[in-house]
Amino acid sequence: MPLDGRPHEVARIPPVDVTRDGAVCVLTLRREEKLNALSTALERELGDALAREEVRASGCVVLTGSGRAFSAGADVTELRGRRPEDVVAYYRETGDVYERVAALPQPTLSAISGYCLGAGLELALATDFRIADETAVFGFPEVGLGIVPSSGGTQRLVRLAGPARAKELILLRDRLDAGEALVVGLVTEVVPAGAVLERTLELAQRLAELPPLAVSIAKQAIDAIPDASRDAGILIERLAYGLLAQTEDAQRGVEDFGGR
Ligand code: COA
Repeated sequence: MPLDGRPHEVARIPPVDVTRDGAVCVLTLRREEKLNALSTALERELGDALAREEVRASGCVVLTGSGRAFSAGADVTELRGRRPEDVVAYYRETGDVYERVAALPQPTLSAISGYCLGAGLELALATDFRIADETAVFGFPEVGLGIVPSSGGTQRLVRLAGPARAKELILLRDRLDAGEALVVGLVTEVVPAGAVLERTLELAQRLAELPPLAVSIAKQAIDAIPDASRDAGILIERLAYGLLAQTEDAQRGVEDFGGR
């Protein structure tokens, strides 16, 4: 018994399902009853999932939600009373999971249905591609709550859509539907309700069938280029080519072409 004499309540750990579909690994947030709100416990589970062998060995990773949401954002019940030192500890412990998703070497896709708000949208922005169905609803509620998107969201949104659009989405737009999200470039594709996982897996399989080293190097080079000078960017391209030119995949690709 704890010191206060009350019986122990065993906290339920909100799970992240990890499943394999061929070379593709699917991570499903399963905190449906709270619209997959990203509590620190759920972030920890996601972080643990990223470290699993199935994920590390996969050719492509898909993130998806469950029930009515991809994710309705940070767990607002945990935001109350956070002192500066709590915030520092948060980023040290689980708050860097968004950066860990972004740093995965293989391509990543988000399959989005229902609410995709705040940190949920930041999580989706940390993946390479976002596919939504017609039920998807996007938004950044943070400023209305007196805070800001702080899981890499402002960084990624500016790079994706430019500063003016980022300000519009963060400061002026309450919600965007899937069609509007497509227009502003938040998502790459919108599919009918119920079809999002199937379509995302189709794209994931295509990515997983490409030469894995070339895919990974292309992804990392593209991610590095917005922050590099033009000269450094050109050098990254050339070094990347130099690294890949003699791989078996590259040699086979050249030979197959020559044999046509
Ligand atoms: N943090 C914690 N819990 C959340 C949550 C969040 N971000 N979003 C939803 N939930 C919980 C609700 O408290 C509710 O729990 P309960 O059934 O125990 O009361 C459950 O999830 C279902 O949400 P509910 O609000 O009843 O669903 P709804 O369809 O009426 O509204 C939303 C959906 C998304 C509009 C609404 O839940 C909402 O505004 N959520 C907060 C979004 C937000 O501000 N996110 C960013 C935080 S920085």
